[in-house]
Amino acid sequence: EKAGYNHFMQKEIYEQPRAIIDTIRGNYSLENSSVSFPDFNIIKDAVKDLNRIVIVACGTSWHAGLIAKFYIEKFAKMPVEVDIASEFRYRSLVIDEKTLFVAITQSGETADTLSALRVAKKMGAKIMSVCNVVGSSISRESDSVIYTHAGPEIGVASTKAFTTQVISLFMFAMFLGQERKILSRDECGRYLAEVVRLPEVIENVLSKDDLILSLAKQFKDASDFLYLGRNVNFPVALEGALKLKEISYIHAEGYAAGEMKHGPIALIDKTLPVFVLCPKSSVYEKVASNVEEVKTRDGIVIAVVTEGDEGLKDICDYMIEIPDIIEELSVFPTVVATQLFSYHCAHLLGLDVDQPRNLAKSVTVE
Ligand code: M6R
Repeated sequence: EKAGYNHFMQKEIYEQPRAIIDTIRGNYSLENSSVSFPDFNIIKDAVKDLNRIVIVACGTSWHAGLIAKFYIEKFAKMPVEVDIASEFRYRSLVIDEKTLFVAITQSGETADTLSALRVAKKMGAKIMSVCNVVGSSISRESDSVIYTHAGPEIGVASTKAFTTQVISLFMFAMFLGQERKILSRDECGRYLAEVVRLPEVIENVLSKDDLILSLAKQFKDASDFLYLGRNVNFPVALEGALKLKEISYIHAEGYAAGEMKHGPIALIDKTLPVFVLCPKSSVYEKVASNVEEVKTRDGIVIAVVTEGDEGLKDICDYMIEIPDIIEELSVFPTVVATQLFSYHCAHLLGLDVDQPRNLAKSVTVE
């Protein structure tokens, strides 16, 4: 069943190029430079009438939501809020018929996400979900569903479910931008040309597995880790830290790189490894200066950078090079690097990678 892999998690990490292809199949045309969701019940008029999007999810799915906010604001210029499902219900909510509520969930059974959906529905919101399980409770209670075609995800640590959620939301954001006449055909075509490169870009990161394994050997006994990123790679910092915590039990924190000097910088000394997501981007210089701040305080920097990056070579301790891709999609190669790192740490520590202690694959209690 594990098809030659040691664990389901490892298999699922390696399945990501295929899972992404399966997820977006039928949703775009390169000839017409357009995106479509043929099974979408939320009719186009409703899409035009909507004035706000509220995304709700838990854990890794919440991180996918945080990335989606960048996409939707950029392509469709709509205000987006992203909430943790267990926090959502206990506030005075501002929701009406012009709100599109989006639940993101691999299992479609997460209790807090389901309850949040029911509250939003009562208040008149249109309900959409991004879900991996056909026939699940959340998919059944939604007006429209975008199914991620990741295939069954067995490992408790979410990997391919995350990347297929993110690509689905990228396509959905382009769809909204297209329907609202904000995203031009030319732009759409340019973005799609990058989307279809993703499987090959991810394969390239997977081919760096030995390098990442050697880093895991070196750092598996660290007691703490800091993950830093900005912009779309800030949620990846959160995700990298969550994955390390959940399967290797190493304490890790994800932080927006620019927030470091407002507190966590006090943690940095020569024993603290800092994983920095610093691909070529609009915030590259800013992240690079955060790397310098870490090095000035003797922290150990493992940086994920774009191939050929000369700027950080002399400053970082270790570099993982990823292929060049537009900033919005750089989250795919950066997150895969963090997944492999967490996987190897947990495996080397002799832990139960697929069934970490205290955790269940689907959390059906509130
Ligand atoms: O099935 P869901 O996507 O609703 O699950 C949400 C979280 O429980 C899940 O992502 C959890 O955080 C994972 N174990 C993370 O790897």
